[in-house]
Amino acid sequence: LIDGAAVGPLTGRRVVVTGGGTREPLDPVRYLGNRSSGKQAVALARAAVERGAEVTLIAGPMSTPVPTGIRRVDVETTQQLLETVLEHARGADVLVMAAAVADFRPRTVATAKIKKDDDGSSPTIELERTPDVLASAVAARAEGAPIAPLIVGFAAETGDEDHDVLEHAQAKLKRKGCEMLVVNDVSAGQVFGRDETAVTVLFADGSEPVTAVGTKDDAARTVLERVVTHLG
Ligand code: CTP
Ligand code: CA
Repeated sequence: LIDGAAVGPLTGRRVVVTGGGTREPLDPVRYLGNRSSGKQAVALARAAVERGAEVTLIAGPMSTPVPTGIRRVDVETTQQLLETVLEHARGADVLVMAAAVADFRPRTVATAKIKKDDDGSSPTIELERTPDVLASAVAARAEGAPIAPLIVGFAAETGDEDHDVLEHAQAKLKRKGCEMLVVNDVSAGQVFGRDETAVTVLFADGSEPVTAVGTKDDAARTVLERVVTHLG
């Protein structure tokens, strides 16, 4: 134990949390990114440390400061996030995927800064899919890698005319193959950067969903309580 480390239900456990967004380069000075603040991930990491866990935060670019007592590993692209998650989730007890991962990236990265043409034309940027980090971790574990037995995904969902938020989320939980999925209903407004949130935790083992309304710290507490219960 490091000096002053909390003792609690997660003492002796290793928890890996991803957070922040990813940046996908276009050329040496430009990227495609998103507005993830990293607030939820930092709240989760803090809640795990408070319960005694040894916590690694794999952080994409984020505006939220990371408290001491949390080991931070910085990444930028989805590919770097993938490699870092597969490395650090080995031997961990829990992997929490709170990062806002880019779904698409530029198919090619220009080696020099993209310049304006004299004819006034604009470039068309072709995108390709990024690897799915969460699904890759689940797949590697299924093939025998000693990756966290408890993998927690996050999802920001909206309902539509055919399915409500939780129906979409249940389908995503199945598709991803993780043990828990924390769902944000974003139909009502913006979550990015805000402190207020409403989450529902879904379980692959069929346990009753749990809902928490409040700050991101409240949501983190609810998630960590379920993590503790799941680890037994
Ligand atoms: N995720 C990931 N790698 C990606 C995309 C998402 O690991 N390339 C993870 C996120 O960190 C989150 C979960 O998958 O834990 C769900 O992310 P979400 O964006 O809701 O799901 P997608 O599968 O990307 O589906 P879509 O955005 O089309 O709804
Ligand atoms: Ca996505």
